[in-house]
Amino acid sequence: MQMKPTLILGIETSCDETGLALVEAAGTLRGAQPPQFTVIQNLIASQIPIHAPFGGVVPNLAKREHLKNLPILWEQIRTSPALRKRMIDMIAVTVGPGLEPALWTGITFAQQLHKQLRAENPKSNIALVGANHLEGHLYSFLLPSKNAKSKNKNAKLFPAIALIVSGGHTTLLRVASFSSWKRIGETRDDAVGEAFDKVARILNLPYPGGPEIQKLAVVGNGDAIAFPQPMRDHKNYDFSFSGLKTSVLYYVRDNPSALRNARQKADIAASFEKAATDVLVHKTLRATQAYGARAILLSGGVAANQSLRNKLSDGAKNLGVAFFVADQGYNTDNAVMIATAGYFAHLRKKKFKLVANGGLEI
Ligand code: KG4
Ligand code: ZN
Repeated sequence: MQMKPTLILGIETSCDETGLALVEAAGTLRGAQPPQFTVIQNLIASQIPIHAPFGGVVPNLAKREHLKNLPILWEQIRTSPALRKRMIDMIAVTVGPGLEPALWTGITFAQQLHKQLRAENPKSNIALVGANHLEGHLYSFLLPSKNAKSKNKNAKLFPAIALIVSGGHTTLLRVASFSSWKRIGETRDDAVGEAFDKVARILNLPYPGGPEIQKLAVVGNGDAIAFPQPMRDHKNYDFSFSGLKTSVLYYVRDNPSALRNARQKADIAASFEKAATDVLVHKTLRATQAYGARAILLSGGVAANQSLRNKLSDGAKNLGVAFFVADQGYNTDNAVMIATAGYFAHLRKKKFKLVANGGLEI
């Protein structure tokens, strides 16, 4: 029997984006096809201009902005045509990892809304579930795509190697199924997104640095400066980006005129981007071979990086394995992926405590 799709409100407040999304989910863990998701509304209130002058996210400002934005975004969802015909079945809210004061704003908002919706519809059975932000990134490759190629739903997925690269994490997983995986590698210091942001600051580029470095790198020469690729040849699957960032810092200190020369500045950005992405691709491909994986799943804010996407896609093709990455807009933080993670947690019968957990692991 075909089950009615589940209408999910996703809520994301772990860092500097307030996200609310309405997503329809259908399917189970046992179906021939993976669960399917339809995005009805995807709202993001970005706080980038507020944090930019500080060069990074200020937790208390993030909290203040989430408190301000949540009711505004909810008003847009509440009055949407989709909710005239039917009610929300599930609220999914990020409980971690992230900045705890920011996470609490989402959790408290979700709890109050849940209470209010139940009071308005006493017969409704609306669920409230916690979601792991990193699982949101992990599952994001299943989100609808404009790119027909990535719709290759028949490709064999498991075992897969998943690379999650964001502002707080650089994690390699061996994924056995939609409900089981093992961490095989992790950064020992800075996350790769953090390295992009710090190098951008060294180059006097605005926050967040990832997209700025990418823009500059496109016109630079990635082979101009041989920055180190720490831990590249270590047998394990761990990463380290703090030494690479320091090398850029020393290079700029020793060549102070480079920042005043547009071409040289672009070369630094391109050479840094090359070193950072080469080491990610190298280790991911090595893990793919070592574990006999059938697919590579790339996700997280840094997955928006075109050079990383291209190199990993080419590498996967050479190995004859499938490559999946979400469309650009679903790589950086959003609430669609949180609705997805909430749905999977529900299917897996995994219950996250509705308590902010800044260090929650995947
Ligand atoms: O997943 P995300 O939106 O937030 C966290 O969960 O951390 O990731 C944000 C990170 C930031 O460090 C940002 O600079 C980086 O993703 N990022 C990029 C690009 N777009 C965003 N890094 C490299 N290239 C990009 N195009
Ligand atoms: Zn994220």
